[in-house]
Amino acid sequence: MIIKTLQEDITTLRVDAIVNAANESLLGGGGVDGAIHRAAGADLLKECKTLGGCPTGNAKWTQSYNLPCKGIIHTVGPIWHGGYKNEENLLESCYTSSLKLANAHNCRTLAFPAISTGVYGFPKDRAAEIAVRAISAFSYERSTLEIIYLVAFDEQTLNLYKNEINKLN
Ligand code: APR
Repeated sequence: MIIKTLQEDITTLRVDAIVNAANESLLGGGGVDGAIHRAAGADLLKECKTLGGCPTGNAKWTQSYNLPCKGIIHTVGPIWHGGYKNEENLLESCYTSSLKLANAHNCRTLAFPAISTGVYGFPKDRAAEIAVRAISAFSYERSTLEIIYLVAFDEQTLNLYKNEINKLN
């Protein structure tokens, strides 16, 4: 399994699945959630309404509708409250839950946005470290996953991902 990073609009990526940084209602919002719902179309919200929400740290799968990817994994990151409310473990759980779900759907390629680092205020440097640590610690023995993309939407996040990935080598 290879981890790659790029700066891109995640809705444009032709990967097997993209991860959405959603909220517990799964009924859409701003940021990457808003971008994904806008690009996927109204049928995505219709499917999300059947899911009954998603607890923080967990993940749920939907179809991708008008997006070029094959599926969407909606995960709910923690809101940053200073680091004393289990935020780091919950963020790690977003990555692990999404990886498990990607495996369950036989994904070969998967793209993550920088979960929780926008509206939810998680410090970007600590989030990048958690993302790379969770992805590299996951067991890929019986996994179909071959390439995992960490998708930055700004240069600071891209550089943080590059630094964390370089530490693995
Ligand atoms: N492609 C890739 N990354 C994006 C895109 C995009 N099109 N749009 C935004 N991002 C980046 C942001 O720059 C940030 O680095 O996604 C990261 C996560 O930011 P948010 O989308 O604000 O998500 P988050 O911090 O997890 O907050 C989730 O915001 O949009 C609402 O409904 C959502 O309530 C939930 C909350």
